[in-house]
This record gives sequence, C-alpha cells and structure tokens, in this order.
Amino acid sequence: MAIHLAVVPVAGRGTRLLPVAKSQPKEMLPVGRKPAVQYVVEELARCGLGRLLFVTGPGKTAIENHFDIDGELIAHLRETGKEELLAELAFEREDLEYFYTRQRRQLGLGHAVLCAKAVVGHQPFVVALGDSIIGLHAQSRIVRVMIDQFEESDVDAVVALEEVLPEDVVRYGIAVPRNSAAEVFELADLIEKPAVGQVPSTLAVAARYVLSPRIFDCLENTPPDARGEIQLTDAIRMLIQQGRRVLGVRLPPGQTRFDVGNFESYFQAFVDFALADPQYGEALREHVRERLHSGDFTPREDRPCG
Ligand code: G1P
Repeated sequence: MAIHLAVVPVAGRGTRLLPVAKSQPKEMLPVGRKPAVQYVVEELARCGLGRLLFVTGPGKTAIENHFDIDGELIAHLRETGKEELLAELAFEREDLEYFYTRQRRQLGLGHAVLCAKAVVGHQPFVVALGDSIIGLHAQSRIVRVMIDQFEESDVDAVVALEEVLPEDVVRYGIAVPRNSAAEVFELADLIEKPAVGQVPSTLAVAARYVLSPRIFDCLENTPPDARGEIQLTDAIRMLIQQGRRVLGVRLPPGQTRFDVGNFESYFQAFVDFALADPQYGEALREHVRERLHSGDFTPREDRPCG
C-alpha cells in the first residue's frame, strides 16, 4: 500500500527553550530564514507525502496559521509592488493537504501518535518530529529511502538512525542491531534513553519513522514510563518482542539531524543554516571569521567594570 500520510507531532511544550518558547511554538523558531517546521514539511513533500496530520497542543496555532494560504498578505504584496516577495510564500501553494488534531493531555510522544489513530486508520504512515530538521535545507531523502525499505520488506516499522557520542545515549531511543549494523539492518531491540553503557550501541533514533498501523495496538498497551509518558520507542520495542520485524536506516554520511528542542542544538542549527544561506551566508562567514579571530565572548555582565 503506497504511503501518503505523515503524522507530525508538534504538541511538546518546549520547556527546555524557556523563555523563548513560552508563547510561541518551538517548531516556529527561525532556522536561517524559515521556521523549523517549514523545513520538515518541505522535506516530507519532496519525499512524496501528500497529506500531513499535525498533532498540536496548547499555544500551537501559529503553526496552523503559517501553512494557511494568506490571501490578504498576497494582495498586499501585489498592491505595494513587492511581487518579488511572493516567492517567499511559494510553500503555501505546495500540493499538500493539511489536517490538525490536538493532543489534549501531555502524555508523551507515543500518546501523541496514538491521537492520530482515527485519521490514520489501517494504512502505514510516516512520523516526522516537528522539532527536528534532517540535513541542510530540507534536502534529505531519508524518508523516501525508509518508505522504499518498508514497501519492499515484510516489516512493521523502519526508523532513521544517527550515530551519537557514547555519553549522549541517555537523550535518545537507542537501536540494538540483530546482526551487524550495515546501512540498513534489522533491530533486535530499541531502548528509550538508556544509561551510559547499558546498550552495546550508539545508534540513536533520528526523528523519522515509518510505521504499520499495528503500532496502535502496541501504543494502547504500552504503560507510561517513570515520568508518566507513553513512549513511541516502547511501542516499537513491543512490536519486536511480538516477533515483528523492525529495520533501522542510517542517515547518509554528512547528513545530520538538527534538533531545535534545546538551546545547544538550536544554536548550532541556526548557525549552520545561516552560514549556508545562498544570499547572506558569505557575509556572515566573513563576520564569524573576524569575530572568532578577534572576539571576546565573555558575556557583558561578567566583564570587569572600568
Ligand atoms: C524523542 C524520542 C527518542 C528520539 C528523539 C530524537 O525524544 O523519544 O527516541 O531519539 O526524539 O528523534 P525527545 O527528544 O522527545 O526526548
């Protein structure tokens, strides 16, 4: 069955980004010139997904507004002779269908995916986390590769994976390969945020999944973790324990995941995208070179007076 639908969870509060994410969705933070979630949508469109279901939550209406066709703004640009700016709104006219549902209680990523059950029905689907961009400027084809793997093999899930530092496994879902970990391989296990040294792997789930609708049974039977959250990782683990096959696909070399969910990686994402900007990148690279050469980066308030 061809896969057309992507579920994009965007319900998380963004507490790691306070105060910036207090009254605006973290998914709308600028990364270079676009809000983060626009790259996610463009990536999915390029990979052939035509229907997007956002699972939203409190304070997330800016995302819905962003993907609306804004006739008033278009008319304003025309009337004021700013036609050249219409190109910046081209994403509004992508041939995509948008759906929105709300996660009415904050019970974790697995629960957010479960909120999509009635819309997804009995078809396989993609999950793409709205706060994670893969590769620079939405050019990643990883979801297409994952869909092809899903359609060619008798599996119930395909997850994207990236290599992380051993001390960082505590922040991710970590895949345990069944045999060797080639570019595409079968998983023996998947463990959410293990302790350092608990798993013999540093391959982390990288925010993209292809799932069969069997995942919903597992999600319904997945108990909440210690923090009261239902984890998607635990439901995929349950699939494996039921004897279903799950594949991992590594991100291609040089392609990274940009996570806007915390300041450390958000800053890196913004810097990388701005430095690579076709129009402003060169001047910024020059500015950064100069600053790195001569700069004093001690925050102002820490500097000695006088
Ligand atoms: C979620 C998933 C985790 C995955 C990560 C990045 O964690 O639970 O398995 O590795 O996204 O895709 P979160 O960042 O929401 O804590």
